Order: sequence, then C-alpha cells, then structure tokens
Amino acid sequence: MSKNTIKWTKRDKLKTKPDESTLPFGKIFTDYMMKMRYEAGSGWSDPEIVPYGPIELDPAAMVLHYGQTVFEGLKAYRNENGDVQLFRPEENMKRMNRSHRRMSIPEFDGETVLKALSQLIDIEKDWVPSVEGTSLYVRPFVISTQTHLAVHPSDSYEFYIILSPVGSYYPEGINPVKIQVEDEFTRAVKGGTGTAKTGGNYSAGYNAQEKASKSGHAQVLWLDAIEKQYIEEVGSMNVFFKINGEIVTPALSGSILEGVTRKSIIELLHSWEIPVMERKISIQELIQAQKNGTLEEAFGAGTAAVVSPIGSFTYKGVAYKVQDGETGSLTKKLYDTVTGIQTGKLDDPFGWTK
Ligand code: COI
Repeated sequence: MSKNTIKWTKRDKLKTKPDESTLPFGKIFTDYMMKMRYEAGSGWSDPEIVPYGPIELDPAAMVLHYGQTVFEGLKAYRNENGDVQLFRPEENMKRMNRSHRRMSIPEFDGETVLKALSQLIDIEKDWVPSVEGTSLYVRPFVISTQTHLAVHPSDSYEFYIILSPVGSYYPEGINPVKIQVEDEFTRAVKGGTGTAKTGGNYSAGYNAQEKASKSGHAQVLWLDAIEKQYIEEVGSMNVFFKINGEIVTPALSGSILEGVTRKSIIELLHSWEIPVMERKISIQELIQAQKNGTLEEAFGAGTAAVVSPIGSFTYKGVAYKVQDGETGSLTKKLYDTVTGIQTGKLDDPFGWTK
C-alpha cells in the first residue's frame, strides 16, 4: 500500500475492534471514512480521510427526495502473509462511473479514488479480519446534496467510502436456499435503472422479498418485466444454472446488473473449458430441465455472498428441487476458487487481486 499523501483528520479516540468470529454483515464500521465533494464549476475536490461519523444534510437535500444516489460494494481480504488485498477494485470504479452516467451524476477519476481507498485501508488495516469467511466490506457511495425541491440533477454531491468488517451476508452461508419465483412485482425493465447500482433498485424489491420470507423462502428469483417469463437475477445477485453439463446465465439484457463476481465466474469457467452460455432462459425451460433431470445445479453470485447455492425454487405455488437440494460440486468448486483467490490461499493467474 502506498504512503499516506492525502489530508487525514484524526479522531481523538479509536473504537474497540469487534470479535472476528461473530461478525455480522454491515453493522460495524471502522474509525475513518473517505470523503470527496463535487461543486458545479469546480468539479470533484481532492479526497480526504475524516473520522467515521454522521453526515450533516439539509432536509431539502435532493437525495432525500428524488434518490439521486449510487453505491458500490467490494471486499478487502487479509492474505496468508498478513497483507491486505482488494478484489478487482478497478471493475467497481468502472461500474460506478457507468451508474453515475445513468443517474446523471458527474463522473470521477477512478484512479484517484482507488489511491485514496488504498490509503484508507492502509490506515484501517487492523480492522481487516482474518477468520475464514470474513472480510472488510468496502462501500463507496455518492449522494446529491443540492438543497432544492425541483426535479433536476443536483449541482453538488458528496462521495464517501465507508468500511465494515463483515461475516457472511446470508445466515445460510454456503448452504442451499429456497427461492420464490416472483411473478407479480418487477425489479427492473430495459431502459430503466436495473444496470445501475442505485438505492431505489434495492428498496423496490423489498415488498417481494417480504412476501417470499413469509412463505419460508430466502430469496426472490426475478423475472423480466414484460413477459414475466425470462429469468433475470436472484435477490441482489446474478444467477447461474448448470443444465446438462452447460452453464447458463441470463445475458446482460439492459435490466441486469453487471456483477463483478458474475464476470469472474464466467472467466474462470472459460479457463476451465466449461461451456458457458449468456442467453435468455425462461422459467418454463428451467422447470422442464428440473422435470427431465438435466437441471444439475443453480446458484446466485454477488460480492456480498460470493456464491450462494439454490436448493429449490417455487413457481406459482409448486416447489421444484434442484437435484437432491444439496450444494452442487461445481458450485462448491467455484466458491472455493473465487474465495481462494480473494483471500490469497490460491494463486491468482488472472491478476485479480490488488
Ligand atoms: C452483492 O452481493 O453484490 C450486493 O449487491 C449485495 C449488497 C447490496 C449488500
């Protein structure tokens, strides 16, 4: 990690670090955060490191009314040598700028932010846990701060990066979950904001998630908005199926988030010479494959959970088991390989860790 070169305001007293063996997801935060401001006319300020704490916002700040905001998620790991490494951070910077473009937020210089992030993590390195299944979750986010109730892009923004030592995202961990195919509510539509990482996409899924939880399902399987036939995502993750030896994942249709874990899994499968198809896959095709025994495995893939096996899916009240409901061997191998590279336990032939 590079030497500290950016402005750093120190806090009087550091927090007590948590017990690494019982870390929740996203509830504990480190001592410092990165902050950067945007003003029309002067552009983005230099990043600085300030004590983690509440943000002061005018009640008329535009983000509170029209949701002009973007976030990212990535993880830092402590490797076998005790050093800290990030997983594909430049992919998150690129995606964040794509989200900015979709949400009419001015783009930023990814390299400047990555440099500031590396300094923040260097300062906070003692917060990076090393117990298996833990990491330091990095959450960059941008909010629109102009005080105006009119509907138009803000002329000022604040950009923060906060850090949270985390355990597993889902209580099930790498154990298979039951999912509910959602055929009433919609996550995203082509031409909408589904490809951007913006808050509203996630809160718009809460009602379906609540419905799924009430019927004993852990996640929602989202279908396309128009025909309610084609599979898009699972919960807040991309989704993969193994059907008759071939891996299928929904093609990036304009409403699906371009996951960094999704991309890494596709690249890994190519390197293993396992066929991967990025194409449309309908719920009927999935049911057919389950009935004729060719649906071999199913899993979600995202930064938070990495790989999350699907044990069964329920569509219009009928539950369909994925094989014997256990974690498939390819799903397990992908989980072990991605997390192995992330944590430095395995070699990184792709140069993904930084
Ligand atoms: C991910 O797994 O990549 C997510 O987007 C989950 C996050 C919203 C907590």
